[in-house]
Amino acid sequence: MKTITLNNGVSIPILGFGVFQMSDFQECKRSVLDAIECGYRLIDTAASYFNEEAIREAIRECNIPRQELFITTKLWVKDTNYEGAKRAFETSLQKLGLDYLDLYLIHQPYNDVFGAWRAMEELYEEGKIRSIGVSNFSADRLLDLTLYNKIKPAINQIETHPLCQQISQNQFLKEQNIQHQSWGPFAEGRGNMFANPLLMQIGENHNKSVAQVILRWLIQKEIIAIPKTTSKARMKENFEIFDFELSFEEMEQIGKLDQGVSQFFDHRDPKIIQWMHDR
Ligand SMILES: NC(=O)c1ccc[n+]([C@@H]2O[C@H](COP(=O)([O-])OP(=O)(O)OC[C@H]3O[C@@H](n4cnc5c(N)ncnc54)[C@H](OP(=O)(O)O)[C@@H]3O)[C@@H](O)[C@H]2O)c1
Repeated sequence: MKTITLNNGVSIPILGFGVFQMSDFQECKRSVLDAIECGYRLIDTAASYFNEEAIREAIRECNIPRQELFITTKLWVKDTNYEGAKRAFETSLQKLGLDYLDLYLIHQPYNDVFGAWRAMEELYEEGKIRSIGVSNFSADRLLDLTLYNKIKPAINQIETHPLCQQISQNQFLKEQNIQHQSWGPFAEGRGNMFANPLLMQIGENHNKSVAQVILRWLIQKEIIAIPKTTSKARMKENFEIFDFELSFEEMEQIGKLDQGVSQFFDHRDPKIIQWMHDR
């Protein structure tokens, strides 16, 4: 598995496994065990996915040494403040059955992100988290957080796929030496992603599926991808992206699919901020 070195020297797999919308305990546990068997080592969860206990059971049963796994979880909005982050971190750690986390992210750019960040810096310095980062931060919010704190975020996890390529964010993250991680690499199938004619054509060129083309495109751009699936066959398919290469022209063609807007929602929309608050 190809890895990326984060700005604090920690190694992270370039391909991981996402577990959003897997709140059924048995389905989640079975999916994570299947994913680990397929070769995935990075598991991306969140307190708000309500499946950290299922992941604990999969970690316990998988027979892979802890240090070979890379476990990410995220701090939810209501806990995004100094005290809340300390408390929520311990709760997540306990639910996951771990004594340290590989990556802890502020899930959304709302509430007291500065207070939460100071708590996360302390947990990092105590050795309880190997790397800390954020998710869904626009470049301006991220720069603000970076300039007025001690530790720079290692990662910004943001919606990124062929229809929403985050080109200016990607440039900004490179300049700041903060790693770009994609969520929703397939936009959950929105925008008719799996039937996109260009992606299908490029797939045919390489005898690969649209999903494989998208994941390959992301990793060739050095963007970490964390696709989600409950199907073992698709886990395998999504993992088989290291035996082909997209040409410069194919990368350029995919670049033209960008619509520059989310397939989900705008994090700056007040209605969304209210909705996240009420969740
Ligand atoms: N930070 C954030 O705010 C945030 C937000 C959203 C997601 N995430 C993270 O990013 C991960 C991935 O995003 P996501 O789950 O929203 O969506 P996604 O990975 O873009 O898409 C998942 C969907 O694609 C299907 N799929 C997976 N592989 C496929 C394949 N090879 N062929 C056809 N269909 C396939 C899955 O169906 P089946 O399961 O039926 O196979 C599922 O419906 C999440 O699980 C989560 O860890 C983070």
